[in-house]
Amino acid sequence: MTDSRLSDAELLARADAIAEKAYAPYSRFDVGVAVLTRDGTVIEGVNVENAAYPLGICAEKNGIGTAITQGYGPGDFEAIAINASPCGGCRQWLHELGFDRVVFRNRGEVLTLTPVELLPETFEL
Ligand code: THU
Repeated sequence: MTDSRLSDAELLARADAIAEKAYAPYSRFDVGVAVLTRDGTVIEGVNVENAAYPLGICAEKNGIGTAITQGYGPGDFEAIAINASPCGGCRQWLHELGFDRVVFRNRGEVLTLTPVELLPETFEL
């Protein structure tokens, strides 16, 4: 979908909606993300779990991986909305890809922070 006028609230609504497609039978914690690229494209992702628990993948990595597959790269991302607080590992991914802002819901509160605010003194090569 291409819509450069999508608001952060609408982006978060997309994350909420796509979370219903999560495959999370073990944790029963459905996570959805909606990535907004600078050209206005929205790319979604969900968490995908596995019976071998550590093999599960977070929704952020899934959504970002799909975006990379479609040809987007670092600097191409305006925002990501997540229906949960991003885990530590995903914060490193958000930093690497250079999102302007991260919109997420944490304990009922909606927060908008930058990757550096989410992960100060981030590891970089
Ligand atoms: N999860 C995500 O998809 N993203 C996060 O940033 C936090 C955790 C998923 C992983 C697992 O499938 C479930 O939430 C419970 O940890």
